[in-house]
Formats: sequence, C-alpha cells, structure tokens
Amino acid sequence: MEDLKGKVAFVTGGANGIGLGIVRAFLEEGMKVAVADWNGDHIAKARQALAGNNAVHFVRADVADRDNLRDARDEVLNAFGKIHVLCNNAGVNGGGTADDPDFGAWDKAMAINLGGVINGTKMIVPVIKQHGEGGHVVCTSSMAGVVPLPGLAAYSTAKYAVRGFAESLRMQVAPLGIGVSCLFPGATRTGMLSAPEDDPTFDPAREASAGDFQKALWDAARAAIDPQDTGRAVVRAIKDNRFYIFTNAEFLDEVRERNREMEDAFPNDTPPEGRRKFETMRADMVRDLMAVGNRSVSGGDGGDFGLDLNSTAVD
Ligand SMILES: NC(=O)c1ccc[n+]([C@@H]2O[C@H](COP(=O)([O-])OP(=O)(O)OC[C@H]3O[C@@H](n4cnc5c(N)ncnc54)[C@H](O)[C@@H]3O)[C@@H](O)[C@H]2O)c1
Repeated sequence: MEDLKGKVAFVTGGANGIGLGIVRAFLEEGMKVAVADWNGDHIAKARQALAGNNAVHFVRADVADRDNLRDARDEVLNAFGKIHVLCNNAGVNGGGTADDPDFGAWDKAMAINLGGVINGTKMIVPVIKQHGEGGHVVCTSSMAGVVPLPGLAAYSTAKYAVRGFAESLRMQVAPLGIGVSCLFPGATRTGMLSAPEDDPTFDPAREASAGDFQKALWDAARAAIDPQDTGRAVVRAIKDNRFYIFTNAEFLDEVRERNREMEDAFPNDTPPEGRRKFETMRADMVRDLMAVGNRSVSGGDGGDFGLDLNSTAVD
C-alpha cells in the first residue's frame, strides 16, 4: 500500500508503547485508526494524548478473547466502514521457563503473544479480503523471535511462532494485494521496558546496589528506541511492502553469527534430483511471494500450494 491517506487501521495494544507509536505514525499519514487495548488506564491516557483527533476510535478488547475481539472488530467496522491495515501488536512479558511445571502462566502468555496474533488475523484479514481494495498486516514479533532470550521460553516460543505465522500469511495473501510485515523490536522504551526515570517512585539507592545485569538492562532502557520511530519504520515497511522490520542495529553481528552457524551445520552431500527439483520449485515460489514490493489487487493463480484466493468468508 503506497498511499495510506484515508485508509483504516486496527492496532491491538495500541494504547501504549510501540502500539501507540504506530498509531501516531498512522495519524501522521492521514489514516483513521482504531485503537484496541484491554487496559482502561492506557486507553484513558492515550485518549488524552490524542485529544481533538477525531480520526481515532478507542475500543476495549482482549486479543486472547475471541468473542471480545470479534465484537471490537464489528464496532470498528460500524464506526469506520472498512479496515485496511491490521497491526497484531498486543503482547505481554513473562510466561515462564521451559522446565517450569506450571502451565497457567505459560498458557496465558501464549494465548496473548501468539493466540492474539492468530485471532486478529483470522478475524480481520477476511474483512480486508472482502472489500478488495488491498491492505496490509503487521505482526509484532521481537528480537526474541530471532535470537533466544534465556529464562523466557514462553515469550521466545510465541515470538518465533509469530514470525513463522507471518511468513506463511504473507505468502497466502500476497496474490490478493495484501502485504504482510513482521516487526522485530529490540530495546524500545515502553511500558514493557522502562528506565528508572520513567517511575517517579523509583529509589535511586536501588541502582547503587543492583547487580551488573540489572544495571545494564536499565542502561539499555535509557538508550532504547523511541516507539514513534518504530511507528514510522512500520509505515515505511507498509509503503514498500517489506516483510522484515528491524529497528535495533546492535543485534546484527549476533544474527550473522547464527546464520553462519546454521549454514555450517548442513550436510556436504549432493541431494537426489527428486528432492532438489521439488525444493527448487518451492523456493522459487517462496522467493516470489516474499519479495519486497507491492502487487496489484487483481488476484492471481494460487498454484498448487493451497493458496485459496477465492474464499471471502468472515467469521
Ligand atoms: N518494548 C520492547 O523493548 C519490546 C521488544 C520486543 C518486542 N516487543 C513487543 O512489542 C509489543 C508491544 O509492547 P510494548 O513494549 O509497547 O509494551 P507496552 O506494555 O508498553 O504496550 C503493550 C500494550 O498492549 C496492551 N495489551 C497487552 N495485552 C493485551 C491483550 N491481551 N489484549 C489487548 N491489549 C493488550 C497493553 O495494555 C499495552 O497497552 C509486544 O508484542 C511486545 O512483545 C517490545
């Protein structure tokens, strides 16, 4: 989508942090924006921050609750008529480690960080398909979906899965003129990663006695990305129809190292022709569907890979 003016966006977790940064960047482009968030205090603050802007519609919704999210979508369709851009952004910290026998926190974190992305997509992409004007979906993963985060298995698991889901979605809807991007934030100054200065009750004595890791984390928060810059990076990716949105250059060396390690782990033999031929065909198709750039909305041949271009059912 090159021209965002007048288009309608639905941003989950849009009342704070990165979501609010995306909302502000969309408003700069002249879009109408639905802010869906489960936190009433965040909604009240965002409403105040964006006061006087009648291109914003706030709706209370929990992305993990399907009935709730469906009602929010329908409320937004009543208010704005259409939705063109979906940002599956709501997320929470936590969920526990891989060996913790408790399932409660794990299931809750997965239901939001992964389930919320799936619910939003399955409910809103069909309405984007139905109006036929094209659109875009942005899923918020994390650098924890590219390099592992020790101690936060539930978070990393969900964020790696968001990346896979978003890649498959991109290939599925590309022929319909619907673009998909995946956002991989590193340290960004939000409710999820705040510096001591963001908390008026913070006792400076705590910093003096804190361990090296905690001190480094606070310094990372102090030097973290401004969410509105992240919002503008999202706008650029939508306009270019680019899948990957990276904002934090400090991860590049580590990503290169991991990619090299994966390449080095492959067997050194020559694959048989049957395997090679099929995977070459598949890879050619993937390359085409993942390629940067906008497509017309005219549809196309779904090929033999299960791309169902004709379904316009809405749940
Ligand atoms: N801040 C970072 O450094 C960072 C890094 C990597 C990824 N992320 C990701 O960015 C996204 C936004 O996080 P943030 O840093 O802006 O945090 P934040 O806490 O400032 O904002 C998240 C917003 O999502 C809302 N939310 C949470 N759960 C929800 C639910 N179930 N339904 C609806 N709304 C819900 C919250 O109320 C809040 O307004 C998350 O997916 C997070 O995992 C953030």
